[in-house]
Order: sequence, then C-alpha cells, then structure tokens
Amino acid sequence: MASSSLSVVLLLCLAAAASAQISPTFYDASCPVALATIKSGVAAAVSSDPRMAASLLRLHFHDCFVQGCDASVLLAGNERNAFGNVGSLRGFDVIEKIKSDVERACKRVVSCADILAVAARDSVVAVGGPSWTVSLGRRDSDTASETLANRDLPPPSLGVADLNTRFAAKGLNLTDMVALSGAHTIGRAQCRNFRSRLYNEANIDPDFATARMATCPQPLGSGDGNLAPLDATTPDTFNNDYFVNLKLNKGLLHSDQVLYAVAGGATEEIIDGFASNPDAFSNAFAAAMVKMGNISPLIFPQGLIRRTCSKTT
Ligand code: HEM
Repeated sequence: MASSSLSVVLLLCLAAAASAQISPTFYDASCPVALATIKSGVAAAVSSDPRMAASLLRLHFHDCFVQGCDASVLLAGNERNAFGNVGSLRGFDVIEKIKSDVERACKRVVSCADILAVAARDSVVAVGGPSWTVSLGRRDSDTASETLANRDLPPPSLGVADLNTRFAAKGLNLTDMVALSGAHTIGRAQCRNFRSRLYNEANIDPDFATARMATCPQPLGSGDGNLAPLDATTPDTFNNDYFVNLKLNKGLLHSDQVLYAVAGGATEEIIDGFASNPDAFSNAFAAAMVKMGNISPLIFPQGLIRRTCSKTT
C-alpha cells in the first residue's frame, strides 16, 4: 500500500476511535441549552415531589444494567414489565416532559439515554448529594428486553455474592457496588419488598422492625404497596446515613443489610469507611455513577435519537 493511502487509513481509524467515545462537551455546539433544560426540568419535578429525585436516579440504574445505558427502560412495554420494574419504576412522565422541552429547542439531537444520565446527576445534586461530570453522546436503542431485565437487575432477596456477581457482570467492583447501594439514602420501597426481612430476619433492630410492621402487616397481600423510607433517618436528603443505619441493623431491604452482616467482612470494611467519612462516600458514589453511566453506550452510527422516549419512532 502506498504511504499516502496508509496515512489516510490511519487517520480514518483515529477518527473512528475518537468518535467512539462519549464526551461532556458533546452538545455544546449542537444543543447548547440541553443541560440547562434538563436541570430546570429536574428541579421543577423534585420541588413538587421530593421522591422524584430517587425515582429518576433509579430509572438510570435500571436503564444501564439492561443492555447498557440506551434508554431501553423508557420504551413502552418490554423492560417496563420486568419483575423489578412493573408497578415500581416512576418518573417516565418527567423524562418525557424534559425530552419534549429539549426537542422544542433542538430537534432529534439529544438522546433519551443522555437525558436520563444527566437527570440522575441533577436529581442527586437537587437533594444535597455530590455532583460529577456526565459524558454525553449515548444514543437510544430501538429494542428493549424484559428477559434481559429479569436476568440482570438484582432482586432484593440476593446475598452479597450474588449481588457482586450482577455488578461484576457490568464492570463494577465491590466498592462500586457498596457506594451505589448508598443511593438508598433516598427514596421509598414497597412492603412486598421488605416484608420477609421484618418477620424472618434476626439482624434487625427490634424498634425499627416494630415501627415498620405497623404499615407492613405479615399476611401476604395485605398492604403490599405500602411505602417506607429506605433511609429511616433522612429519607429525602442525600447523605451517608444509609451506612450509619446499616451498622445499627436498620437496613430496610435484605439486600441492604446483607452488606453489613459479617463482622470484618469486605463490604463491612467499606461501609465503616463510608459511615465515618461522608466525603469518602460522596467521592466513591460519584466515581461509581460515572462508571455505571458508561456501561455499553450506543455510539453513532449505532442506535438512534428518539423523538419521544417511550417510542422508537
Ligand atoms: C444492590 C442492588 C440493589 C437492589 C437489590 C435494589 C433494590 C431496590 C428495591 C427493591 C427498591 C424498592 C422498589 C419498590 O419497592 O418499588 C429500590 C428502590 C430504589 N433503588 Fe435500589 N436496588 C439496588 C441498587 C440500587 C442502585 C445501584 C441504585 C442507584 C444507583 C438504586 C437506587 C434506588 C432508589 C433511588 C430507590 C428508591 C426509588 C423511589 O423511591 O422511587 N438502587 N431498590
């Protein structure tokens, strides 16, 4: 091959490698109002419903764990019917409203996957948590999979080893997993997801259990949808109280308390660090959110930019 055509090939390869990355400045020229529009949409939603911060954060997690951060969770049907999602995920209407505001400013430029990633960050900040830089340029899928959602999303019945397996499958290590579980410093869970912990587990603070039992009766089917805060002390503020609570056996979900069950264990050591040092938690959480947000993005020419987040058209 002549040396000039070799350098063209090399240049093309370099260009392909460069464009196969997401970057924080991706919309600076094509949609400069995108970030501000998402931020004000999140602020409005959280001020009228403080729990919405938690719900948007969880939507991004459930998006990224199933075929990558590609907004597959937002498509009608499919993933939204999976076990951990149906009757549980919230915030679809908030994302759809933000998307329509963004579309009005810039048609078919900003992906739903990016809106979700930025909304998750802005939600955490809105309730007092740390900030981080979100890389952009993810594109949206034209598919979603209930089967993959059921395979990859962790149910609250899992123990540490199985939780770790699910996170490791997404490139997240034990510290990432514990830090990300700290998202349960905000938000609510339904009785059906913590009933068996209240009535069957020994490592639970008795007063805490009694208080929760009042709105989560034992008979299956009664009060299944009743809500309780995942962080008993500061349910709408993003701080490290979740870890302090775990040390007091006041974790709400089985999958929360298993992280602090064995004295001297690996996750217990990480929790001790986060419970005694809020900045250590903030930094680890922000770093793990960046990693989670980078799981298998669809990069141009893969994927598409949806006009409406619930539809591929
Ligand atoms: C470690 C494995 C995890 C398990 C087993 C788990 C499980 C759950 C369950 C069962 C609920 C309550 C759902 C309901 O009752 O409707 C919940 C809520 C929540 N989860 Fe997780 N979760 C995990 C990790 C995460 C991660 C990594 C994040 C985000 C980074 C997260 C964010 C949230 C938030 C914010 C809520 C409250 C949502 C709301 O109030 O609308 N969770 N989780």
